[in-house]
Amino acid sequence: MRVLVCGGAGYIGSHACTVLASRGHDLLVADSFVNSSPCVFDRLQRIIGRPVPFRRADLRVRAQVEALFDGPRFDAVVHFAALKAVGESCERPLDYFDNNIAGTIHLLQAMQDAGVKRLVFSSSATVYGDPACVPVREDAALCSTNPYGRTKLVMEQLIGDLCEADPAFRAANLRYFNPVGAHPSGLIGEDPGGVPNNLMPYISQVAVGRRDRLQVFGGDWPTADGTGVRDYLHVMDLARAHADAIDYLLREDRSLTVNLGTGRGVSVLELVHAFAKASGREVPCEIVARRPGDVAEVYADPSLAQRLLGWRAELGIEAMCRDAWRWQSMNPEGYGGSERLEDASR
Ligand code: NAD
Ligand code: WQD
Repeated sequence: MRVLVCGGAGYIGSHACTVLASRGHDLLVADSFVNSSPCVFDRLQRIIGRPVPFRRADLRVRAQVEALFDGPRFDAVVHFAALKAVGESCERPLDYFDNNIAGTIHLLQAMQDAGVKRLVFSSSATVYGDPACVPVREDAALCSTNPYGRTKLVMEQLIGDLCEADPAFRAANLRYFNPVGAHPSGLIGEDPGGVPNNLMPYISQVAVGRRDRLQVFGGDWPTADGTGVRDYLHVMDLARAHADAIDYLLREDRSLTVNLGTGRGVSVLELVHAFAKASGREVPCEIVARRPGDVAEVYADPSLAQRLLGWRAELGIEAMCRDAWRWQSMNPEGYGGSERLEDASR
């Protein structure tokens, strides 16, 4: 199948490309490179064994989105393209609404004009806010607690309304919990710009010597060891779910919304210890105050994804740490600090 991968140069998108290509799909990546670098495509070619065509395009610019559909018809679109930093979204809410929501509207309009009726969408467990109970099911209350989360909720609703209006349009709404890790080759991985917001890249930067110590946000949470608990998911398991979702949309005449997680909660200190074991490196930690907006415990009930997609996470926390460390130790500065457009515009 011919698949347009929006945001495919990013962390999850690039990993998804390796699986989509291995399933025989014909890909075109569209990316603005606001949070990634074209050099990922050299790595992808070494993994896949053939080039992945890509176009620089910004979903905020409708003409650039429409131009993506000028070529041979796509069978499906996978939409990874978004700004995703919670803290940054609180500082720049309008940029997040414009980039994530307007960008999605332009993509949906271009898909409709081109008659492309299958969409796989990157949503997030952030749409659950602070869930009343765990494990979290898809029918849990939805609640956005920050501008980024609000964009995800609105994007889900836009897509849902389009599915209602056009019975031929099918969408797979994938709610990711906490993706971590890297491709087993160590050639691609998570390369956050600046100070990492997320736990795993911060831990791996401490282990490789780029950061002095990990600040553990809260040691007094109502959890077994007092630190925050999350559902960490290997990015390769997550990538596989996208290929399974495309297969589902092309086979079934219905849309779906599923949680993608392991169904197992892991605490900050558990992850630190697993990473130290996998890397053989010390990870100095300091317990500090809780991070505003954080919640104690969130992990998925992934049973619906298993029932509908036949998907379940196969890789455990050891593999997540082992593969994250291989990427970081092989790439201490990530993708070599290749300039991002955002840096160039500053
Ligand atoms: P990422 O920043 O690595 O990848 C996003 C990609 O989209 C980047 O390459 C970026 O340049 C591109 N992009 C952003 N805005 C664009 C625009 N207007 N036009 C074209 N390209 C644009 O992030 P990621 O971690 O790979 O996340 C991918 C998707 O998954 C995002 O939608 C994110 O909200 C979602 N998600 C991520 C996580 C996580 O913890 N990483 C969790 C849940 C959901
Ligand atoms: C995990 C745990 C922290 C960093 C975020 C976004 C969410 C989604 C996934 C996009 C928590 C603790 C973290 C650190 C720490 N992204 N921590 N020290 O907060 O579950 O989810 O990423 O969709 O929208 O909110 O992930 O990795 O930031 O934190 O102690 O330096 O690690 O308190 O318990 P989170 P995280």
